[in-house]
Amino acid sequence: MPKNKTVWVCQNCGAESAKWIGRCPSCGQWNTYQEEKIPPSSGTPSIISGQDEKRKPQLLSSITPDEKPRLSSGINELDRILGGGMVPGSLILLGGEPGVGKSTLALQLALASPGKKVLYVSGEESAEQISLRAGRLRGDNPGCYILCETNLENITAHAGTLNPDVIIIDSIQTITSSMLESSAGSVSQVRENAAMLLKYSKITGVPVILIGHITKDGTLAGPKVLEHIVDVVLYFEGESNYIYRVLRSVKNRFGSTSEIGIFEMTGSGLKEVANPSALFINQHDEMLSGIAIAATIDGIRPFLIETQALVSSAVYGTPQRSSTGFDIRRLNMLLAILEKRAGFRLAMKDVFLNIAGGIKVSDPAIDLAIISSVLSSNLDIPLGKKTCFAGEAGLSGEIRPVSGIEQRIREADKMGFENIVVSRFQKVPDIKNLKIGIVTTGKVEQLVRYLFA
Ligand code: TYD
Ligand code: MG
Repeated sequence: MPKNKTVWVCQNCGAESAKWIGRCPSCGQWNTYQEEKIPPSSGTPSIISGQDEKRKPQLLSSITPDEKPRLSSGINELDRILGGGMVPGSLILLGGEPGVGKSTLALQLALASPGKKVLYVSGEESAEQISLRAGRLRGDNPGCYILCETNLENITAHAGTLNPDVIIIDSIQTITSSMLESSAGSVSQVRENAAMLLKYSKITGVPVILIGHITKDGTLAGPKVLEHIVDVVLYFEGESNYIYRVLRSVKNRFGSTSEIGIFEMTGSGLKEVANPSALFINQHDEMLSGIAIAATIDGIRPFLIETQALVSSAVYGTPQRSSTGFDIRRLNMLLAILEKRAGFRLAMKDVFLNIAGGIKVSDPAIDLAIISSVLSSNLDIPLGKKTCFAGEAGLSGEIRPVSGIEQRIREADKMGFENIVVSRFQKVPDIKNLKIGIVTTGKVEQLVRYLFA
């Protein structure tokens, strides 16, 4: 007689083992193995009728795709990231840290598309809480249904009778299937339930949006194992202390992954930011030292951001280096370049760097602006108000060309800048009707001469 078998599953990556292991050989995490029951061998239960219809191999050339129109989410930024709206029958994962605003975005989506029947399933909040939240948000959709339920079979049964246009599951970690014995949020529950919902959406053609939590280091069970199953993965990022949120697509079977959307968290929900440059540049009346504007690109979206540096004499023996929104190791590298190639004595100075607005930038083209803001603060000389920067710094002090220069220049021109400093080796395309002047520098020393001569 076979026993009721169990298997040990890594809660981080989903790897399986016959016995407990301290360190997962697959992802290297410690103490992530949990015992889970193996589901009955009859395979995944069939909760949707008609899924076993015969499928035959067919010639690729004989298939004519029935181009069903995409469903607009009612939120422009979101539609753009999705590649023009939700594809019928797609499974979309919206991941993010707790408190970043996933539920708010999902509820806004439900309210923003009047005329559509939306089923919002919540396993986290009560219907009263959702109603209170909806009262604060803009938008009103008479076809928005709320279902507070965590059992997958009940959810699909209700969806079957209601026949909605979109289903939102908040969150996948709270959903359990009665076919599985492991607890809610465990890897097998998350994986099996997502697979079941994928089947549901593929058969009915209803787009399903799954909300998934991740922790700061992204180790919680769920979204990481889900990424393989779903069609679209969106990540909602942002510091909860700041008002800006960035929605990023990291996987999209129906569009590009280079689009980002920027939102502002307000008292009445999330607001789309159409012109981020205007927000990320602070309006100063007077000229201040230590401020430089970078023309950066995130995905394919150009915008201007303010880098702020403060350089002061170190009070303690070891100087402090602190950076917000920028890699501290890269900051140290840039400071070493300034020390070695331009002769600035920064080794005994404290350096603080901040990217305004609380967003994180990993675009190397921001190097030039960071160097300029550090120099400006060090010498206590403000930079011209109407100059911005786009260039990468090399270890020998050379300024290197960056990608997407045309978009950067256009954005800076649109924002009324008079000069943009780029690399001497940058091939600048011929752009008509530009008012902005293009200044080229080859080396950090040249930059210093240009800025402070
Ligand atoms: P929430 O959507 O609950 O986050 P998640 O589902 O990702 O855990 O939103 C979290 C924060 O958003 C909460 O701390 C309060 C803030 N918030 C606003 O600032 N304005 C609003 O109108 C709403 C609804 C929320
Ligand atoms: Mg939530």
